[in-house]
Amino acid sequence: MPSAQKRKFQYMKQNGLILWLTGLSGAGKTTIAQRLENTLRKQRYLVELLDGDIIRQNLSQGLGFTKEDRDINVRRVGYVANLLSRNGVIVIVSLISPYRAVRDELRYSSDNFVEIYVNAPIEVCEARDIKGLYAKARNGQIKFFTGIDDPYEEPRNPQITCYSAKETIDESVVKILIWLEKANQLPQLVLSGQGCF
Ligand code: ADX
Repeated sequence: MPSAQKRKFQYMKQNGLILWLTGLSGAGKTTIAQRLENTLRKQRYLVELLDGDIIRQNLSQGLGFTKEDRDINVRRVGYVANLLSRNGVIVIVSLISPYRAVRDELRYSSDNFVEIYVNAPIEVCEARDIKGLYAKARNGQIKFFTGIDDPYEEPRNPQITCYSAKETIDESVVKILIWLEKANQLPQLVLSGQGCF
């Protein structure tokens, strides 16, 4: 195959996508996002993960947790996700992104935006308390903690909901992959056989 044709073939291999995981701290967004990232990468998709904790160390360094700052954070990540996805990258975002309006703003202004609600009851997230932040929020060391003394507005009609207190991580990941396959977003995906996970 001539090299120009080959390049075209490579570029056409994949449509960009934004897989936006929203949910409480400790709901399992990062864990699901990382497993999804690895699975897709193994199948040679171009993937990038934009995770809240990491984004706040660089792109959004200095932002706090007021509504204003969270909305700026979400819009910034949405902007970067759009740049990447329009160049064929599957962008996985894991951000609490607690406010419905700004999520919807992105969802309805981006092509190929898939809203994924990682849904776990606050009691479960608090019992997990992987980072010890719920304990700090309860004893007043952290103020405006999502779900404790700051709002989380559930998505009204997410394309996918992962019930992370009831499903395993692999079940959630497979649910997302099956949804994408049915929506014809991952035409080259091999869901069965070796190498999926
Ligand atoms: S968002 O609201 O702006 O979308 P983001 O996902 O970037 O939040 O960051 C959330 C992470 O910041 C949490 O996983 C947690 O580790 C940390 N964090 C620190 N303070 C807070 C807070 N007040 N509310 C929620 N998360 C906090």
